[in-house]
Amino acid sequence: MYSPSERKQYFNLSKQWLKTPAERADYDSLVETLQFHEWAYYVASEAIIGDQEYDMLYKQLESIETGMEDIRPDSPTQRVSNDLKGDSKTVEHLIPMLSLGNSYNAEDLQDFHRQVLKNAFLDEGSAVQYSVEPKFDGGSVALVYENDFLIRAATRGNGQRGEEMTANAKAMSSIPLKALFSKYGIYKAELRGESIIAKSDFESINAIRLEREEDVFANPRNAATGGLRTKDANETKFRRIQTFVFQLGYAVDRDGNNMLPSLGAHFKTIELLTSLGFKTPGEASKLCKDIDEAARFCANWEAKRDDYGYEIDGMVVKVDSFELQEKIGFTQHHPKWAIAYKFKAKQATTKLLGVEYQVGKIGSITPVAKLDPVALAGVTVSNVSLHNADFISERDLRIGDTVVVERAGDVIPYIVKALDEMRDGSEQPITFLKQCPSCKTQLEREEGEAAWRCVNVKCEAQILQKLIFHVSKDAMDIDGFGKSYVEKFYELGWITDLADVYNLPYDQIAELEGFGEKSVAKLRTAINKAKQNPIQRLLHSLTIHHLGKKAGKLLAEEVEHVLEFKSWTLEDFEGIKDIGPVLARNMVAFFSNPDNVTLLEKMESLGVNLHQTEEDKPLQVSADAPLVGKTILFTGTLQTMGRKEAQEKAEKAGAKNISAVSSKLNILVAGEKAGSKLKKAEALGTVEIMTEQEFVDLIA
Ligand code: IVH
Repeated sequence: MYSPSERKQYFNLSKQWLKTPAERADYDSLVETLQFHEWAYYVASEAIIGDQEYDMLYKQLESIETGMEDIRPDSPTQRVSNDLKGDSKTVEHLIPMLSLGNSYNAEDLQDFHRQVLKNAFLDEGSAVQYSVEPKFDGGSVALVYENDFLIRAATRGNGQRGEEMTANAKAMSSIPLKALFSKYGIYKAELRGESIIAKSDFESINAIRLEREEDVFANPRNAATGGLRTKDANETKFRRIQTFVFQLGYAVDRDGNNMLPSLGAHFKTIELLTSLGFKTPGEASKLCKDIDEAARFCANWEAKRDDYGYEIDGMVVKVDSFELQEKIGFTQHHPKWAIAYKFKAKQATTKLLGVEYQVGKIGSITPVAKLDPVALAGVTVSNVSLHNADFISERDLRIGDTVVVERAGDVIPYIVKALDEMRDGSEQPITFLKQCPSCKTQLEREEGEAAWRCVNVKCEAQILQKLIFHVSKDAMDIDGFGKSYVEKFYELGWITDLADVYNLPYDQIAELEGFGEKSVAKLRTAINKAKQNPIQRLLHSLTIHHLGKKAGKLLAEEVEHVLEFKSWTLEDFEGIKDIGPVLARNMVAFFSNPDNVTLLEKMESLGVNLHQTEEDKPLQVSADAPLVGKTILFTGTLQTMGRKEAQEKAEKAGAKNISAVSSKLNILVAGEKAGSKLKKAEALGTVEIMTEQEFVDLIA
């Protein structure tokens, strides 16, 4: 429907308006651009801008149209979005299902609050109670109960009429077939809610589909909305769709009198619905005393959205009192007493401008994409790792491409895909480097490995990375010794190998700009402290390929002095449980190289500890320790100790900590608010479940 050049034009216009908002003169192009995005999202299912970017453009359109007389009837603002397909039975909602206005930050919420005060004829500074709950990212449904029975369910449709889906609703266990509304004098009610699939269910559903060689679902939202409208209610059940109820929109008694006023307020009504057996947001919702508290609650949830079991794309802030709601009223499109607080976008599109290559501490070459800087979930992203050559070829990435970038929670931003339709032929393929960008040595790739590597041990870029890692928190943990110090000292020729770290010219450092006696003294103390590190840290800090923290500990348990490894054979290393043949080979290679031995000797002469410390020694558990041979797992919040401390205690008592509930688990210690793990363990029936106190008594 749209030609490649049109797509491109709309994309570029959008980007331009996201930088400098559209004006009245842009009205027609803005309408057409948004029409295009609607089509791309709903019809072609290939959105080329993020949700938040779309919302921002939509807002610009709304603001241009405010007060305008000749609003185009085909403007996207003139319709409530539509999920109706031609061939299904539709029903009229008892009252229209509206949409929500959007806000993006605390300031927007303050604006919303000012409008609320104005529309409710309240004085400036009055406090209003707001009920805040998650904005579930699924498909909305309307449920009608009459005489306590579920008699009808429908999708939102165009807001006035929805698609009838009663059989599917009946297949969802979270929707009660019967609910005692009559207890409250209610004869007929319409409830609104959102149907959604839990993140964990989504994963297992996709796993099953994969096994059956069916296509996997792209995301829980599509799987849920599709599952609402399928003709086969068994499929709805299979997808484990759950429905959260978030509004009682309509409630009348036998004589048709409106019962909502007698219920008083939203939060209380949701509690009532909970007591009738409906699934409601529970802990994820809160009755806030004013807009400031509401804003804090929204921000808290934004920070923990990834830990929540369901996909949510924001929070919804609602004036709690029904009386106030009624005073405030609606626009054509949304209630003026509620607003969505949209979380920052997780996806955005931008241009891939070029690729740079970084040399890692063991010579692995990492390609890094240079992007046209783009705002994503609260940060500006301009570089993202492309990992390795396969990552680039699998996605067919080219320089000049428009790419979709995603950042979810703590995950480092990454490129999801390139948008083929945005190509104009000028894009350049990415040809992976053949030589090390630092020392020009020919790169090599071992069979089965993803990374190309520079094998030159004298490669400067590699040495610098080794030094940076050696002093880092993960390795020798030299407090305050950051990357910039390493680079500076390396540049000045003061550190060329790991031993030099322990032989710094402190007097000269004190004279450097930005350093003083104080900071030098601090650095010196930190370095002296690191000299006493257990050898497991030292071993890890040497950047021997495949020698991680865990292997460092296993190896440290075996020797009284690090240089004993000089005489170890391949078989000796492989004889240690959990040390694999590759690391065994790397250890032999490292310790048979005289340069490395000299380096360690030099470090020792500078005071670095090479002897096994108490911390390095294997944990001594006597055969009659109370938990010998048992596996254990802690869940929920513990009252008298932290999780880590509990695990250490369990280990000392002979137990092995494991991380999942399975038939292998012997003991589950359930703290407060223990959730799914406890349920699973109970269901298994083979796990001994104990309280924190019982655990403490047992190991005492
Ligand atoms: S209230 C008149 N509350 O978001 C009240 N909506 O963009 C309008 N949604 O169509 C809705 N979670 O499907 C409300 N806690 C929540 C919600 C929620 C998700 C959806 C709903 C609505 C859309 C509006």
